[in-house]
Order: sequence, then structure tokens, then C-alpha cells
Amino acid sequence: MLVLGIETSCDETAAAVVSDDRTILANRVLSQIEEHRPYGGVVPEVAARAHLDHLDGIIQGAMDDAGLSFDALDAVAATGGPGLIGGVMVGVMAAKGISLATERPFIAVNHLEAHALSARLSDDIAFPYLLLLVSGGHCQLLCVEGVGTYRRLGTTVDDALGEAFDKTAKMLGIGYPGGPAVEAAAKAGDPKRFSLPRPMIGRPGCDFSFSGLKTSIRQTVEKLPLGALLDRDVADLCAGFQAAAGDVLADRCRHAIVQFRTLHPHGNTLVVAGGVAANSYLRSRVQDLCEAEAMSLAIPPHHLCTDNGAMVAWAGIEKFRLGQTDGLDFAPRPRWPLDPNAPPAAFAGVKA
Ligand code: KG4
Ligand code: ZN
Repeated sequence: MLVLGIETSCDETAAAVVSDDRTILANRVLSQIEEHRPYGGVVPEVAARAHLDHLDGIIQGAMDDAGLSFDALDAVAATGGPGLIGGVMVGVMAAKGISLATERPFIAVNHLEAHALSARLSDDIAFPYLLLLVSGGHCQLLCVEGVGTYRRLGTTVDDALGEAFDKTAKMLGIGYPGGPAVEAAAKAGDPKRFSLPRPMIGRPGCDFSFSGLKTSIRQTVEKLPLGALLDRDVADLCAGFQAAAGDVLADRCRHAIVQFRTLHPHGNTLVVAGGVAANSYLRSRVQDLCEAEAMSLAIPPHHLCTDNGAMVAWAGIEKFRLGQTDGLDFAPRPRWPLDPNAPPAAFAGVKA
């Protein structure tokens, strides 16, 4: 079974061809970093236009890389949400067009589900597993019980972790996207020089909060002599931020492991997915936790952690195997929770 996967929900224009034996025949990703850099963040209008300009070429390139004609496909999958709606519409329309022209089924994929199932593409992980999904838009802990069956254990009540990385980088003037910039700067830093908060540690449950950490970084910068940031200050703040984020992730995951084991006594794997899973320091923190808790850990390789078409194609394969396809009347969904039954998270008056 061969499926084309299209991803346009944020700032990557991506297309891939994947087969149901877990082979990635093609995986093209065009980053829009340069388009958004002047603004220090993703501008939805700019993103939608860039997807429109580049998607056709990326899809054709992926088909060329795979050495296939469109007739060789069994289905066409595209991210149908959640995400920036202009971009999602571009990808969904392209997939519907190919579906109509080739008479192959169209499959709308939940972007979060694509991240959630990516470990089954890279590592063939069996259900159920515990998932830490950490990206630019989301920070959640979920039990992945099957395709389409998710139980949310915790979520952020304010910023996503990737967003906190991006905002920290912006405050420190070290560029965009923030995650890789903070990670690189932190390498030379002293994580103990500044005392930064660890929001949520010590509280029951598995929810996250990062806005207090972000505010603390801003206040620390403002208190520095002359308000001028030296390279050392930047490095120490980045290292301090990462260490605080690592402590928070470890604490929340520890709580989640207890809940997961109660629900699934035979499940024993923690999967980390989403763009922030590319961070080596945070990976090592989660690795240490898993060793201490006797959990096995699966983290897809870097190129499957950040947004890509292969994870969309794979989620399409998983749905297609179960007979789950969509009509051409599918409407893109700006919001699409993995666990529709999860109660809204609330903390200090903030709702998410
Ligand atoms: O999953 P993703 O590519 O897009 C979303 O669905 O949001 O995640 C993008 C996020 C950005 O916030 C980016 O700064 C973060 O992942 N990120 C990182 C690293 N690489 C990307 N965060 C921390 N360390 C990294 N090395
Ligand atoms: Zn993503």
C-alpha cells in the first residue's frame, strides 16, 4: 500500500510517499523559516501564500523521488487540522484534487495524531503507549490506546513548550526558530547562575504551565546591568531555561507514568514526539527518567519529529487499513482535539 502524505498546517510545506511496510520512499520538507524570520514568528497569511506557491512543486518532487506516477498511489492523505487554517486549506484542496483526478480515496489526518503515530513508523511501537507530545502549538501527555483512541492525562494551561522556547529566543535576540537557537546557546551556559521557577512541580496531575518561566526570563533580562545582554548572559539564561523545562518535563512525565500504569498495567513505553523532541538535552532528561522508572523510550529521529509529510502519510496508512477515509466534503478543522472527552485545563484563571 502506497500513500502520499501532505503537511501544510504551520510553516513547513511537506509531501512524502510511504508504504505500509514502513518504508519512506520520499520525504520532502520545505521550511518557510526565511519568509517568517523578519517577523520573529509564523505569520499565518505569509504561511498560506508560501504553501500555495510551493506545494505543487514539493508534491511533484516527492513523486519523482519515489519514482512513481500518481496512479501508483493507493490513497492521498493530508493534514486536515488543527493548525493555521489558510495553510490547512491549501494542503486539503491539493489532496482532494489528486484524489478526484486519480480516483483514489482521500484521508484527512489530525496533525496531532500524525505526531502521535510517528513512533509506529520509525520504531513499530505497539499500542498502548504513553505519549509526550511537545511541539510549537501543543504540550500534552496522552495514553495512545489505538488509532483514533486517545486519553489525555495532561496539557498546558498556557504556552506550549516550543512556543516558550521561541519566545525566550526572541527576548534574547538569538533568532527564529527559537528551539534550536536556545539549545545551541545553552551548550556554553551555566544553568545555575540564574534562579528560574519550575511551574507546576509538586502539584498533582500532569498539566504544564510555561508562562511563569517565560516572564521570569524577561524580568531577569530587565534586571541585568544596563539592560545589555552579553553572550555569557544569553548562554546562562538559555541553559537555565532548558534546565527548568527539563525538570518540569521529568516531573510531569513521572506523574503520567503512574497514571498510565494504572490504566494499562502491561504498557511499558514512553514515546516523545513533536518538534521539541529534537532537543538533545530534553531527550537525555527523559531518557534518565525512563531508566529510573524502567520504562522503554522511543523517540523518532529528528526529521520525523519536526513537521513532515511522512508522518501524515503513515497516519493515513493506519486509518486506511481500518477503512477510515473521508469524503471530498471534508471541512478543514482549525481545532481538532485528540481526546474530545478531556476536560478543559484550568489554573489560576487560565483556560486551555
Ligand atoms: O512539531 P513542530 O515542527 O511544529 C508544530 O506542530 O508546532 O514543532 C515546532 C517547534 C518550534 O516551537 C521549535 O522551536 C521547536 O519545535 N523545536 C525545538 C527544537 N527544534 C525545534 N525546541 C527545542 N529544541 C530544539 N532543538
Ligand atoms: Zn507539528
